[in-house]
Amino acid sequence: MSGLVVTAMDSILQGTCRRDTKIRYDLRTRVCVSRNHPKHLQNRPDKHQGKGDEKNLDGYFDGRTSHCAIEIAPTDTLRQAKTTNPTMQSNRLTFETHGNPADVLKLESFNLPAIADGEVLLKIHASPVNPADLNYIEGTYGVKPSLPAIAGIECFGTVIQSRTGKFSEGDSVITTGKADGWATHSITNGDQLITVPNGIDPLQAAMLKVNPATAWLLLHHFSDLKKGDWVTLNASNSGVGQCVIQLAASMGIRTVCFLRNESLSEELSSLGASHVFLDSPEGFSEARETIGKERAKLAFNAVGGDSALRLMKLLGESGTHITYGAMGRKPLTVPNGPLIFNDIRVRGLWVTKWMEKASKKELENTYLPLADRLLDGSLSQKVDSTFALADFRQALARLDESGRNGKVLFENP
Ligand SMILES: NC(=O)c1ccc[n+]([C@@H]2O[C@H](COP(=O)([O-])OP(=O)(O)OC[C@H]3O[C@@H](n4cnc5c(N)ncnc54)[C@H](OP(=O)(O)O)[C@@H]3O)[C@@H](O)[C@H]2O)c1
Repeated sequence: MSGLVVTAMDSILQGTCRRDTKIRYDLRTRVCVSRNHPKHLQNRPDKHQGKGDEKNLDGYFDGRTSHCAIEIAPTDTLRQAKTTNPTMQSNRLTFETHGNPADVLKLESFNLPAIADGEVLLKIHASPVNPADLNYIEGTYGVKPSLPAIAGIECFGTVIQSRTGKFSEGDSVITTGKADGWATHSITNGDQLITVPNGIDPLQAAMLKVNPATAWLLLHHFSDLKKGDWVTLNASNSGVGQCVIQLAASMGIRTVCFLRNESLSEELSSLGASHVFLDSPEGFSEARETIGKERAKLAFNAVGGDSALRLMKLLGESGTHITYGAMGRKPLTVPNGPLIFNDIRVRGLWVTKWMEKASKKELENTYLPLADRLLDGSLSQKVDSTFALADFRQALARLDESGRNGKVLFENP
C-alpha cells in the first residue's frame, strides 16, 4: 500500500502500509491507523477523522517498526461494522444528488450507530437554513460533499453520550467542523466541538458558528478599527448584517447600512446602526450627503453588482472592500478610478477557511466571547420562524415569501 491515495471508499480496506504512505481522505472517510498488526486494529486503533486533506503517516513509525496497520472506510460503513446503538432512532435530511433543495432533499430515519472512542452523540436542538446550506445542496458551495450527504452546516446540541473525557452528558455544544445539522442526532468527533454556556438560547446558539463569527472576522481581520471609524455594508438586515451592526456598535464603530426593505430601518437603528439607507442610487446619494467628507475604512459586500460598487465609492483612501456573499448573483466589477486614485484593496472572506486553519485556542477565543454575548442578549439574529424537519418543504418555501423577517430554522422537539 505504498503511496496509497484514498478518497471516499466503497468498502472497508485493511492492510499494512509503509513509511512513505500518504492518505488523502474526505470528510466522510475514517482512517484508523495502528502501529501494531491489523488484528489489533479493532482493539487499540489511533483514529483519525478525515479533514479533506492529505495525511502523512510518518508519526506512526518508530525505530522498531517499518510497517503499520491501516483500516479505511466511509465513517458510516465503519460504524455499522461495529455494534449499533439499538435504542436510538434518528431522522435526518439527506440528498443523493445536487439540485433544487425542495426536490432533492428527503427525510430519512436511521438507527444511530454506537459511538467510537473520541466521539460524542449529540441531540440536536436547532439548525438554521442559511443561504450557504442551499448552495451546499445545489452543489455551488465552496466545498462539495461526497454523496449521499446530510444537510445542515451548523447546529446547536446537547451531549447525550460521550467517549471522550473532554465532554460530559448534558454539555451544550456547537460544532466547528462538519455539522450534519439538519438531523435529530449526530455523531461528531469531540475535537470538532466547542462547549457553550448552558442556558444559552438554543436558536441563537444554533446560528453562532457562521454569522456572528463572520461578522467578528469582518470587523477584526482587515483593519485596526478605532472608535469613531466608519464601516459600510449592504444586505444589512441579513443575519451577518445584524451581527456586524451590534458588534460594531459595541466597539464604537459607526455603520452606514444599506438594505432593500426600508421598513426595517428602525429595527436596524435599534440594534445600533448609525445610518440606514435604501440600497439604490438615491440611497447612496443620501448616504454621501449624511456622512459628508467622512469615508469608510471597510466595506462589507454580500450582494455584488451595483450595490457592491456603491459601497466601494464610500471607501476612503486605502480602504478595504470585502466580499463575503453574492446574494444578488451579479459579479463584482472594480472600476479603474477607485483602484488608481484611491488605492482601495479588494478582498474576500470565507469563514469556513478560517475555521479550518484556526487553532482550537483561536476558535475558543472567538466563539466563547460571542457565546457570552448571546447569553446576555447583546448579540442576536432575528428569528422569523421554526419548522420540524418533516416540514422541510414549508421551511424552504418560507425563505422566498414576502414578509419574511429573520432566519428560518429547524427545531427538534
Ligand atoms: N463568506 C462567509 O464566510 C459567509 C458567512 C456567512 C454568510 N455568508 C453569506 O452572507 C450572505 C448573507 O447570509 P445571511 O445568513 O446573513 O443571510 P440571511 O439572514 O438569510 O439574509 C439574506 C440577505 O440577503 C438579501 N438578499 C436576498 N436576495 C437578494 C438579492 N437578490 N439582492 C440583494 N439582496 C438580497 C436579503 O434581503 P431581503 O431581506 O431584502 O430579501 C437579506 O438581507 C449570504 O450570501 C451568505 O452566503 C458568507
